[in-house]
Amino acid sequence: MKTDTGYREPVSKDEQKILAARYAIDDLYAKGLLASGMKLGLGTGSTAMPAVARICELIREGTLSGIRAVPTSFQTSIACEELGIPVYSMNSREIGGTLDLAIDGADEVTPELWLIKGGGAALLLEKIVAYSAQRFVIVADESKAVPDSGTRFPLPVEIIPEARTGIVAALARLGAVARLREGVRKAGPVVTDNGNLILDCLWERNESGRSPARPDILEDEINRIVGVVENGFFTRNKPTVYIAHADGSVEVR
Ligand code: 5RP
Repeated sequence: MKTDTGYREPVSKDEQKILAARYAIDDLYAKGLLASGMKLGLGTGSTAMPAVARICELIREGTLSGIRAVPTSFQTSIACEELGIPVYSMNSREIGGTLDLAIDGADEVTPELWLIKGGGAALLLEKIVAYSAQRFVIVADESKAVPDSGTRFPLPVEIIPEARTGIVAALARLGAVARLREGVRKAGPVVTDNGNLILDCLWERNESGRSPARPDILEDEINRIVGVVENGFFTRNKPTVYIAHADGSVEVR
């Protein structure tokens, strides 16, 4: 379903992120799926951030109250701190390991609503939060909608540093070329919020131009490799996806 939002086209990618995020929060609130007193998981990245900011606006104007939020990264935790949203851990008494709603961005969304996440290296906590939530919502610009996954945006795999070489070989047996993610303005690899490393994995397209990767099977297979902490395929807890387009419409899948 596509809704016209009144935006003038062409809407830039950055504007699409804000549009998708704000539209989703207002739509969820209007439908009673985001309400006072809820336990919310808050995602990471440049599309999740305007959603966090919109939630903060609703709290400040008194529309929402009693929100208990679990951030998925240092980025989100700092944003909540700056916006004045109280944060909890999944293990805190106020949260008790379950959430009503989780809202996040994605790097890829397939027609099956399978995701790749972890472009910001926050996939571990993002998956814990997403899979602990009764309802999972993704906000994205239209570039994130892809026909299949594995050959465009590299799949992030969070690993224990000591197991790196063995994991690269095991991923090669699953058909993937894995590269250690390097830091930007930091010498050496990216170290995640949990003290681990990230391998970014790509598959080669087959003769028919399709991806050979089956996210629903690989999500479990990759996690069976010793030393892998988590991977960025999200195929369970199917999300509702809000995708903003350059024509100013928002599509809900
Ligand atoms: C971080 C993520 C992000 O949600 C994903 O990378 C999308 O980011 P952005 O909205 O900035 O494009 O998974 O680990």
